Amino acid sequence: MTPSTTTSPLREAYDPEQFRQLGHQLIDLLADHLTRLSSDSPPPVIPYRDPETELAFWQADFAQGPGDPLEFFQRVLDHSIQLQHPHYLGHQVSVPALISGLAGMVSDILSNGMAVYEMGMAANAIERVVTDFTARKIGFPETANGVITSGGTLANLTALLAARRAKAPTAVWEEGHRERLAVLVSEEAHYCIDRAARILGMGSEGIIKIPVDDRFKIRTDLLDTYYQAATAKGLTVIAVIGCAGSTATGSYDDLVALADFCERHQLWYHVDGAHGGAVVFSDQHRHLCRGMERADTVVIDYHKMLLAPALNTALLFKNGRLAYDTFAQQAQYLWEAEQAPAWFESGKRTFECTKLMLSIKVYAILRTYGEAVFAENIDRLYGQARVFAALIAAHPDFELAVQPEANIVNFRHTARPRAEWDRHNGQLRQELIQSGDYYIVQTVIKGERFLRATVMNPQTEEGVFRGLLARLGG
Ligand SMILES: Cc1ncc(COP(=O)(O)O)c(C=O)c1O
Repeated sequence: MTPSTTTSPLREAYDPEQFRQLGHQLIDLLADHLTRLSSDSPPPVIPYRDPETELAFWQADFAQGPGDPLEFFQRVLDHSIQLQHPHYLGHQVSVPALISGLAGMVSDILSNGMAVYEMGMAANAIERVVTDFTARKIGFPETANGVITSGGTLANLTALLAARRAKAPTAVWEEGHRERLAVLVSEEAHYCIDRAARILGMGSEGIIKIPVDDRFKIRTDLLDTYYQAATAKGLTVIAVIGCAGSTATGSYDDLVALADFCERHQLWYHVDGAHGGAVVFSDQHRHLCRGMERADTVVIDYHKMLLAPALNTALLFKNGRLAYDTFAQQAQYLWEAEQAPAWFESGKRTFECTKLMLSIKVYAILRTYGEAVFAENIDRLYGQARVFAALIAAHPDFELAVQPEANIVNFRHTARPRAEWDRHNGQLRQELIQSGDYYIVQTVIKGERFLRATVMNPQTEEGVFRGLLARLGG
Protein backbone atom coordinates (compact mmCIF):
# COMPACT_ATOMS: atom_id res chain seq x y z
CA MET A 1 0.00 0.00 0.00
CA THR A 2 1.40 3.40 -0.96
CA PRO A 3 1.55 5.79 1.93
CA SER A 4 -0.93 8.59 1.46
CA THR A 5 -1.51 11.83 3.24
CA THR A 6 -5.17 10.92 3.67
CA THR A 7 -4.77 7.51 5.30
CA SER A 8 -4.77 8.93 8.81
CA PRO A 9 -8.32 8.79 10.22
CA LEU A 10 -7.74 12.18 11.80
CA ARG A 11 -6.69 13.75 8.50
CA GLU A 12 -9.65 12.18 6.76
CA ALA A 13 -11.99 13.51 9.43
CA TYR A 14 -10.98 17.03 8.38
CA ASP A 15 -10.65 16.51 4.63
CA PRO A 16 -12.81 19.11 2.80
CA GLU A 17 -12.83 17.08 -0.42
CA GLN A 18 -14.15 13.98 1.32
CA PHE A 19 -16.73 16.23 2.96
CA ARG A 20 -17.74 17.70 -0.40
CA GLN A 21 -18.28 14.25 -1.93
CA LEU A 22 -20.09 12.78 1.04
CA GLY A 23 -22.14 15.94 1.45
CA HIS A 24 -23.41 15.85 -2.13
CA GLN A 25 -24.26 12.18 -1.82
CA LEU A 26 -25.99 12.74 1.51
CA ILE A 27 -28.16 15.53 0.13
CA ASP A 28 -29.18 13.22 -2.74
CA LEU A 29 -29.97 10.46 -0.29
CA LEU A 30 -32.11 12.79 1.85
CA ALA A 31 -33.90 14.34 -1.12
CA ASP A 32 -34.73 10.85 -2.49
CA HIS A 33 -35.97 9.84 0.93
CA LEU A 34 -38.23 12.90 1.19
CA THR A 35 -39.58 12.33 -2.32
CA ARG A 36 -40.49 8.75 -1.39
CA LEU A 37 -42.30 9.93 1.73
CA SER A 38 -44.62 12.17 -0.24
CA SER A 39 -45.14 9.66 -3.08
CA ASP A 40 -48.19 7.44 -3.62
CA SER A 41 -46.46 4.46 -2.03
CA PRO A 42 -44.44 5.78 0.89
CA PRO A 43 -42.62 3.60 3.43
CA PRO A 44 -44.25 3.17 6.89
CA VAL A 45 -44.53 6.34 8.95
CA ILE A 46 -43.01 4.41 11.84
CA PRO A 47 -41.01 1.24 11.21
CA TYR A 48 -41.78 0.07 14.71
CA ARG A 49 -39.52 -2.47 16.41
CA ASP A 50 -39.44 -3.18 20.11
CA PRO A 51 -36.55 -1.55 22.01
CA GLU A 52 -34.51 -4.74 22.51
CA THR A 53 -34.68 -5.64 18.81
CA GLU A 54 -33.65 -2.09 17.89
CA LEU A 55 -30.74 -2.19 20.32
CA ALA A 56 -29.58 -5.55 18.97
CA PHE A 57 -29.66 -4.15 15.44
CA TRP A 58 -27.40 -1.23 16.34
CA GLN A 59 -25.07 -3.36 18.43
CA ALA A 60 -24.57 -5.60 15.42
CA ASP A 61 -24.12 -2.56 13.19
CA PHE A 62 -21.52 -1.07 15.52
CA ALA A 63 -19.64 -4.36 15.70
CA GLN A 64 -18.86 -4.03 11.98
CA GLY A 65 -16.39 -1.24 12.75
CA PRO A 66 -15.65 1.77 10.51
CA GLY A 67 -17.36 1.71 7.13
CA ASP A 68 -19.29 3.74 4.57
CA PRO A 69 -21.15 6.55 6.39
CA LEU A 70 -23.81 6.71 3.68
CA GLU A 71 -24.88 3.14 4.41
CA PHE A 72 -25.10 4.08 8.06
CA PHE A 73 -27.13 7.23 7.32
CA GLN A 74 -29.53 5.19 5.18
CA ARG A 75 -30.02 2.75 8.05
CA VAL A 76 -30.76 5.63 10.43
CA LEU A 77 -33.42 6.90 8.01
CA ASP A 78 -34.91 3.42 7.67
CA HIS A 79 -35.10 2.95 11.43
CA SER A 80 -36.65 6.29 12.39
CA ILE A 81 -40.11 7.76 12.63
CA GLN A 82 -40.83 9.97 9.61
CA LEU A 83 -42.18 13.42 10.43
CA GLN A 84 -42.42 14.29 6.72
CA HIS A 85 -44.86 11.42 6.17
CA PRO A 86 -48.43 12.76 5.69
CA HIS A 87 -49.61 10.07 8.16
CA TYR A 88 -47.49 11.59 10.94
CA LEU A 89 -50.02 12.93 13.46
CA GLY A 90 -47.98 12.49 16.61
CA HIS A 91 -46.07 14.60 19.09
CA GLN A 92 -45.72 18.35 18.71
CA VAL A 93 -42.46 18.58 16.82
CA SER A 94 -42.43 20.59 13.61
CA VAL A 95 -41.75 19.08 10.24
CA PRO A 96 -38.63 21.16 9.71
CA ALA A 97 -38.37 23.50 6.75
CA LEU A 98 -35.51 21.96 4.79
CA ILE A 99 -33.55 25.19 4.72
CA SER A 100 -33.34 25.01 8.50
CA GLY A 101 -31.66 21.62 8.19
CA LEU A 102 -29.04 23.19 5.95
CA ALA A 103 -28.64 26.02 8.44
CA GLY A 104 -28.09 23.37 11.09
CA MET A 105 -25.23 21.95 9.07
CA VAL A 106 -23.61 25.40 8.90
CA SER A 107 -24.11 25.77 12.64
CA ASP A 108 -22.55 22.36 13.34
CA ILE A 109 -19.56 22.95 11.12
CA LEU A 110 -18.92 26.39 12.64
CA SER A 111 -19.64 25.11 16.15
CA ASN A 112 -19.57 28.63 17.56
CA GLY A 113 -20.27 28.17 21.26
CA MET A 114 -21.71 31.69 21.65
CA ALA A 115 -21.71 32.08 25.47
CA VAL A 116 -19.25 34.94 24.97
CA TYR A 117 -19.34 37.37 22.09
CA GLU A 118 -16.10 36.31 20.38
CA MET A 119 -17.32 32.71 20.26
CA GLY A 120 -20.51 33.65 18.47
CA MET A 121 -20.45 37.05 16.84
CA ALA A 122 -22.94 36.33 14.07
CA ALA A 123 -24.80 33.90 16.31
CA ASN A 124 -25.37 36.44 19.09
CA ALA A 125 -26.38 39.21 16.69
CA ILE A 126 -28.75 36.93 14.79
CA GLU A 127 -30.27 35.69 18.03
CA ARG A 128 -30.94 39.32 18.94
CA VAL A 129 -32.61 39.96 15.57
CA VAL A 130 -34.79 36.84 15.79
CA THR A 131 -35.86 37.38 19.42
CA ASP A 132 -36.49 41.13 18.89
CA PHE A 133 -38.65 40.23 15.92
CA THR A 134 -40.61 37.67 17.94
CA ALA A 135 -41.02 40.08 20.87
CA ARG A 136 -42.49 42.73 18.53
CA LYS A 137 -44.93 40.14 17.18
CA ILE A 138 -46.14 39.45 20.71
CA GLY A 139 -46.71 43.16 21.14
CA PHE A 140 -43.94 43.67 23.69
CA PRO A 141 -42.40 47.15 23.92
CA GLU A 142 -38.95 48.23 22.68
CA THR A 143 -37.51 47.49 26.12
CA ALA A 144 -38.21 43.78 25.67
CA ASN A 145 -35.58 41.23 24.84
CA GLY A 146 -35.16 37.52 24.63
CA VAL A 147 -32.86 34.59 24.55
CA ILE A 148 -32.98 31.27 22.73
CA THR A 149 -32.73 28.08 24.74
CA SER A 150 -32.61 24.38 24.03
CA GLY A 151 -36.31 23.72 24.45
CA GLY A 152 -39.43 24.89 26.21
CA THR A 153 -38.66 22.94 29.37
CA LEU A 154 -35.47 24.91 29.97
CA ALA A 155 -37.14 28.17 28.94
CA ASN A 156 -40.04 27.67 31.38
CA LEU A 157 -37.62 26.86 34.19
CA THR A 158 -35.65 30.01 33.38
CA ALA A 159 -38.83 32.10 33.39
CA LEU A 160 -39.77 30.81 36.83
CA LEU A 161 -36.25 31.55 38.07
CA ALA A 162 -36.72 35.11 36.85
CA ALA A 163 -40.08 35.25 38.63
CA ARG A 164 -38.47 34.10 41.85
CA ARG A 165 -35.71 36.68 41.48
CA ALA A 166 -38.23 39.45 40.98
CA LYS A 167 -40.97 38.46 43.43
CA ALA A 168 -39.60 36.37 46.32
CA PRO A 169 -39.24 38.52 49.45
CA THR A 170 -35.78 37.04 50.12
CA ALA A 171 -33.02 37.04 47.49
CA VAL A 172 -33.04 33.25 47.17
CA TRP A 173 -30.12 33.16 44.74
CA GLU A 174 -27.82 34.59 47.41
CA GLU A 175 -29.44 33.62 50.70
CA GLY A 176 -31.33 30.41 50.00
CA HIS A 177 -34.99 29.84 50.76
CA ARG A 178 -36.66 31.58 53.68
CA GLU A 179 -40.30 31.73 52.57
CA ARG A 180 -42.50 28.94 51.25
CA LEU A 181 -43.02 30.05 47.66
CA ALA A 182 -45.82 29.00 45.31
CA VAL A 183 -47.14 29.41 41.78
CA LEU A 184 -50.68 29.14 40.39
CA VAL A 185 -51.13 27.16 37.22
CA SER A 186 -53.79 25.28 35.29
CA GLU A 187 -54.09 21.58 36.06
CA GLU A 188 -53.60 21.09 32.30
CA ALA A 189 -50.16 22.75 32.19
CA HIS A 190 -47.24 20.80 30.74
CA TYR A 191 -45.44 18.67 33.31
CA CYS A 192 -42.28 20.73 32.89
CA ILE A 193 -43.92 23.55 34.87
CA ASP A 194 -44.50 21.21 37.79
CA ARG A 195 -40.94 19.99 37.47
CA ALA A 196 -39.53 23.53 37.28
CA ALA A 197 -41.37 24.55 40.44
CA ARG A 198 -39.97 21.50 42.24
CA ILE A 199 -36.44 22.26 41.01
CA LEU A 200 -36.94 25.74 42.46
CA GLY A 201 -37.63 24.12 45.81
CA MET A 202 -41.35 24.82 46.02
CA GLY A 203 -42.33 21.21 46.70
CA SER A 204 -45.79 19.77 46.14
CA GLU A 205 -47.51 22.45 48.22
CA GLY A 206 -46.03 25.21 46.07
CA ILE A 207 -47.52 24.01 42.78
CA ILE A 208 -51.11 25.04 43.06
CA LYS A 209 -53.12 23.49 40.26
CA ILE A 210 -56.32 25.27 39.35
CA PRO A 211 -59.12 23.17 37.83
CA VAL A 212 -60.17 23.71 34.22
CA ASP A 213 -63.59 24.20 32.64
CA ASP A 214 -65.20 21.91 30.07
CA ARG A 215 -63.00 23.43 27.33
CA PHE A 216 -59.87 22.68 29.41
CA LYS A 217 -59.16 26.33 30.16
CA ILE A 218 -58.10 27.45 33.61
CA ARG A 219 -61.10 28.43 35.81
CA THR A 220 -60.22 32.08 36.33
CA ASP A 221 -63.24 32.44 38.61
CA LEU A 222 -61.38 30.21 41.11
CA LEU A 223 -58.10 32.14 41.16
CA ASP A 224 -58.98 34.33 44.11
CA THR A 225 -60.15 31.39 46.22
CA TYR A 226 -56.96 29.42 45.58
CA TYR A 227 -54.79 32.49 46.12
CA GLN A 228 -56.44 33.31 49.45
CA ALA A 229 -56.21 29.68 50.59
CA ALA A 230 -52.48 29.60 49.76
CA THR A 231 -51.84 32.85 51.58
CA ALA A 232 -53.79 31.63 54.61
CA LYS A 233 -51.51 28.55 54.68
CA GLY A 234 -48.46 30.80 54.86
CA LEU A 235 -47.39 30.40 51.24
CA THR A 236 -46.05 33.34 49.25
CA VAL A 237 -47.50 33.17 45.74
CA ILE A 238 -45.00 34.67 43.28
CA ALA A 239 -46.40 33.86 39.84
CA VAL A 240 -49.26 32.73 37.66
CA ILE A 241 -48.60 30.68 34.56
CA GLY A 242 -51.02 30.78 31.63
CA CYS A 243 -51.23 28.07 28.96
CA ALA A 244 -51.29 29.07 25.31
CA GLY A 245 -52.28 26.37 24.63
CA SER A 246 -52.31 23.37 26.91
CA THR A 247 -50.40 20.26 25.90
CA ALA A 248 -53.17 17.66 25.92
CA THR A 249 -55.91 19.59 24.11
CA GLY A 250 -54.25 22.79 22.84
CA SER A 251 -56.70 24.93 24.84
CA TYR A 252 -55.86 28.59 25.33
CA ASP A 253 -56.36 30.05 28.80
CA ASP A 254 -58.07 33.42 29.17
CA LEU A 255 -54.84 35.40 29.11
CA VAL A 256 -56.58 38.73 29.70
CA ALA A 257 -58.23 37.54 32.93
CA LEU A 258 -54.90 36.12 34.10
CA ALA A 259 -53.16 39.41 33.34
CA ASP A 260 -55.79 41.32 35.36
CA PHE A 261 -55.35 38.93 38.28
CA CYS A 262 -51.54 39.26 38.23
CA GLU A 263 -51.76 43.05 38.11
CA ARG A 264 -54.17 43.09 41.03
CA HIS A 265 -51.86 40.96 43.20
CA GLN A 266 -48.56 42.16 41.73
CA LEU A 267 -47.54 38.67 40.66
CA TRP A 268 -45.17 37.63 37.90
CA TYR A 269 -47.14 36.67 34.84
CA HIS A 270 -45.65 33.95 32.69
CA VAL A 271 -47.28 32.52 29.56
CA ASP A 272 -46.21 29.09 28.37
CA GLY A 273 -46.84 29.49 24.65
CA ALA A 274 -44.40 26.71 23.74
CA HIS A 275 -46.94 25.27 21.32
CA GLY A 276 -49.60 27.88 20.64
CA GLY A 277 -47.78 31.17 21.21
CA ALA A 278 -46.75 30.97 17.58
CA VAL A 279 -50.19 32.28 16.56
CA VAL A 280 -48.83 35.79 17.03
CA PHE A 281 -47.56 35.32 13.47
CA SER A 282 -51.08 34.67 12.10
CA ASP A 283 -53.69 37.39 11.54
CA GLN A 284 -56.34 34.70 11.51
CA HIS A 285 -55.42 33.13 14.85
CA ARG A 286 -53.59 35.72 16.93
CA HIS A 287 -56.77 36.56 18.84
CA LEU A 288 -56.26 33.29 20.73
CA CYS A 289 -53.30 34.93 22.49
CA ARG A 290 -55.00 38.19 23.43
CA GLY A 291 -53.51 39.33 26.74
CA MET A 292 -50.16 37.61 26.19
CA GLU A 293 -48.57 41.02 25.53
CA ARG A 294 -49.22 41.82 29.21
CA ALA A 295 -47.07 38.90 30.45
CA ASP A 296 -43.67 39.41 32.06
CA THR A 297 -42.27 36.41 30.23
CA VAL A 298 -43.41 34.32 27.28
CA VAL A 299 -42.07 31.04 25.93
CA ILE A 300 -42.51 30.10 22.26
CA ASP A 301 -40.98 26.98 20.71
CA TYR A 302 -39.76 27.62 17.19
CA HIS A 303 -39.56 23.84 16.83
CA LYS A 304 -43.28 23.25 17.31
CA MET A 305 -45.33 25.51 15.02
CA LEU A 306 -42.57 27.57 13.41
CA LEU A 307 -40.82 25.03 11.17
CA ALA A 308 -37.49 24.84 12.99
CA PRO A 309 -35.94 21.49 13.93
CA ALA A 310 -35.99 20.52 17.62
CA LEU A 311 -34.91 22.03 19.93
CA ASN A 312 -35.25 25.78 19.50
CA THR A 313 -37.15 28.04 21.92
CA ALA A 314 -37.52 31.75 22.54
CA LEU A 315 -37.84 33.02 26.09
CA LEU A 316 -38.98 36.63 25.90
CA PHE A 317 -38.95 39.23 28.67
CA LYS A 318 -41.21 42.27 28.49
CA ASN A 319 -38.72 44.14 30.64
CA GLY A 320 -35.44 43.09 29.06
CA ARG A 321 -33.38 44.24 32.04
CA LEU A 322 -34.86 41.51 34.23
CA ALA A 323 -33.43 38.84 31.94
CA TYR A 324 -29.97 39.75 33.18
CA ASP A 325 -30.91 39.59 36.85
CA THR A 326 -31.88 35.93 36.70
CA PHE A 327 -28.35 34.56 36.64
CA ALA A 328 -26.43 37.56 37.98
CA GLN A 329 -23.25 36.05 39.36
CA GLN A 330 -19.48 36.24 39.15
CA ALA A 331 -17.91 34.53 36.15
CA GLN A 332 -14.72 36.51 36.03
CA TYR A 333 -12.92 34.52 33.43
CA LEU A 334 -15.78 34.90 30.96
CA TRP A 335 -16.91 38.48 31.33
CA GLU A 336 -15.22 41.62 32.49
CA ALA A 337 -18.27 43.47 33.77
CA GLU A 338 -20.56 40.81 35.15
CA GLN A 339 -23.53 43.04 35.75
CA ALA A 340 -23.46 44.85 32.41
CA PRO A 341 -26.54 44.05 30.33
CA ALA A 342 -24.56 42.83 27.33
CA TRP A 343 -27.06 41.40 24.88
CA PHE A 344 -24.19 39.98 22.82
CA GLU A 345 -23.08 37.49 25.48
CA SER A 346 -26.00 35.12 25.65
CA GLY A 347 -24.46 33.05 28.43
CA LYS A 348 -25.47 35.77 30.86
CA ARG A 349 -29.11 35.00 30.37
CA THR A 350 -29.28 31.21 30.02
CA PHE A 351 -28.36 28.09 31.93
CA GLU A 352 -26.39 26.99 28.95
CA CYS A 353 -22.77 28.02 28.69
CA THR A 354 -21.66 26.67 25.33
CA LYS A 355 -24.79 26.86 23.19
CA LEU A 356 -25.60 25.87 19.63
CA MET A 357 -26.26 28.61 17.07
CA LEU A 358 -29.96 27.88 17.29
CA SER A 359 -31.12 31.22 15.97
CA ILE A 360 -29.68 30.71 12.51
CA LYS A 361 -32.18 27.93 11.82
CA VAL A 362 -35.06 30.34 12.41
CA TYR A 363 -33.27 33.19 10.68
CA ALA A 364 -32.65 31.03 7.59
CA ILE A 365 -36.38 30.34 7.31
CA LEU A 366 -37.28 34.02 7.68
CA ARG A 367 -34.57 35.24 5.31
CA THR A 368 -35.52 32.68 2.67
CA TYR A 369 -39.33 32.74 2.80
CA GLY A 370 -40.35 35.69 4.96
CA GLU A 371 -42.66 35.55 7.96
CA ALA A 372 -45.64 34.68 5.74
CA VAL A 373 -44.48 31.06 5.83
CA PHE A 374 -45.22 30.94 9.57
CA ALA A 375 -48.75 32.30 9.14
CA GLU A 376 -49.42 29.89 6.27
CA ASN A 377 -48.27 26.93 8.34
CA ILE A 378 -50.32 27.87 11.41
CA ASP A 379 -53.47 28.59 9.41
CA ARG A 380 -53.10 25.38 7.45
CA LEU A 381 -52.48 23.14 10.49
CA TYR A 382 -55.16 24.72 12.67
CA GLY A 383 -57.58 24.61 9.72
CA GLN A 384 -56.88 20.94 8.99
CA ALA A 385 -57.48 20.09 12.65
CA ARG A 386 -60.95 21.63 12.35
CA VAL A 387 -61.58 19.52 9.24
CA PHE A 388 -60.57 16.38 11.13
CA ALA A 389 -62.66 17.33 14.17
CA ALA A 390 -65.73 17.83 11.95
CA LEU A 391 -65.28 14.33 10.47
CA ILE A 392 -65.06 12.83 13.95
CA ALA A 393 -68.04 14.79 15.25
CA ALA A 394 -70.15 13.59 12.31
CA HIS A 395 -69.16 9.93 12.76
CA PRO A 396 -71.43 7.75 14.90
CA ASP A 397 -68.57 5.47 16.07
CA PHE A 398 -66.29 8.22 17.38
CA GLU A 399 -66.45 10.86 20.07
CA LEU A 400 -64.62 14.18 19.94
CA ALA A 401 -63.24 15.22 23.36
CA VAL A 402 -63.46 18.94 22.67
CA GLN A 403 -63.66 21.24 19.65
CA PRO A 404 -59.99 22.05 18.91
CA GLU A 405 -58.72 25.61 19.16
CA ALA A 406 -55.28 24.58 17.93
CA ASN A 407 -54.08 21.66 15.77
CA ILE A 408 -54.56 19.02 18.49
CA VAL A 409 -57.54 16.68 18.12
CA ASN A 410 -58.57 14.28 20.90
CA PHE A 411 -61.08 11.57 20.20
CA ARG A 412 -61.97 7.96 20.91
CA HIS A 413 -63.66 5.00 19.28
CA THR A 414 -66.91 4.32 21.09
CA ALA A 415 -68.47 1.44 19.14
CA ARG A 416 -68.04 -0.86 22.15
CA PRO A 417 -69.59 -1.12 25.62
CA ARG A 418 -68.50 1.91 27.64
CA ALA A 419 -66.56 -0.14 30.17
CA GLU A 420 -64.19 -1.24 27.37
CA TRP A 421 -63.41 2.20 25.91
CA ASP A 422 -60.12 2.79 27.73
CA ARG A 423 -58.64 -0.62 27.05
CA HIS A 424 -60.02 -0.75 23.51
CA ASN A 425 -58.60 2.65 22.46
CA GLY A 426 -55.22 1.84 23.99
CA GLN A 427 -55.18 -1.38 22.00
CA LEU A 428 -56.24 0.36 18.80
CA ARG A 429 -53.30 2.73 19.06
CA GLN A 430 -50.87 -0.08 19.83
CA GLU A 431 -51.99 -2.00 16.75
CA LEU A 432 -51.75 1.13 14.64
CA ILE A 433 -48.19 1.85 15.71
CA GLN A 434 -47.12 -1.72 15.11
CA SER A 435 -48.62 -1.67 11.62
CA GLY A 436 -46.63 1.47 10.79
CA ASP A 437 -49.63 2.87 8.89
CA TYR A 438 -50.32 6.03 10.94
CA TYR A 439 -48.68 7.67 13.93
CA ILE A 440 -50.92 9.12 16.64
CA VAL A 441 -50.45 9.28 20.40
CA GLN A 442 -52.78 8.93 23.36
CA THR A 443 -53.55 10.99 26.41
CA VAL A 444 -55.65 10.88 29.55
CA ILE A 445 -58.39 13.48 29.84
CA LYS A 446 -60.37 13.71 33.06
CA GLY A 447 -59.13 10.24 33.94
CA GLU A 448 -60.11 8.61 30.63
CA ARG A 449 -58.02 7.51 27.68
CA PHE A 450 -58.29 9.38 24.39
CA LEU A 451 -56.49 9.07 21.10
CA ARG A 452 -54.63 12.25 20.29
CA ALA A 453 -53.69 13.45 16.82
CA THR A 454 -51.71 16.63 16.24
CA VAL A 455 -51.72 17.86 12.67
CA MET A 456 -48.07 18.84 12.26
CA ASN A 457 -47.55 18.16 8.58
CA PRO A 458 -48.95 20.71 6.12
CA GLN A 459 -49.11 17.90 3.54
CA THR A 460 -51.72 16.01 5.54
CA GLU A 461 -54.94 16.12 3.51
CA GLU A 462 -58.52 15.24 4.45
CA GLY A 463 -58.16 11.80 2.84
CA VAL A 464 -55.59 10.93 5.52
CA PHE A 465 -58.11 11.65 8.27
CA ARG A 466 -60.78 9.59 6.55
CA GLY A 467 -58.26 6.75 6.10
CA LEU A 468 -57.27 6.90 9.74
CA LEU A 469 -60.87 6.70 10.99
CA ALA A 470 -61.55 3.76 8.65
CA ARG A 471 -58.38 2.06 9.88
CA LEU A 472 -59.53 2.51 13.48
CA GLY A 473 -62.78 0.71 12.71
CA GLY A 474 -65.07 3.54 11.74
C1 LIG B 1 -47.28 23.69 26.48
C2 LIG B 1 -45.92 23.06 26.50
N1 LIG B 1 -44.96 23.57 27.28
C3 LIG B 1 -43.72 23.06 27.33
C4 LIG B 1 -43.40 21.93 26.59
C5 LIG B 1 -42.01 21.38 26.68
O1 LIG B 1 -41.28 21.88 25.62
P1 LIG B 1 -39.95 21.18 25.06
O2 LIG B 1 -40.36 19.83 24.58
O3 LIG B 1 -39.52 22.11 23.99
O4 LIG B 1 -38.97 21.11 26.19
C6 LIG B 1 -44.36 21.35 25.76
C7 LIG B 1 -44.05 20.16 24.95
O5 LIG B 1 -44.86 19.58 24.30
C8 LIG B 1 -45.66 21.93 25.72
O6 LIG B 1 -46.63 21.42 24.96
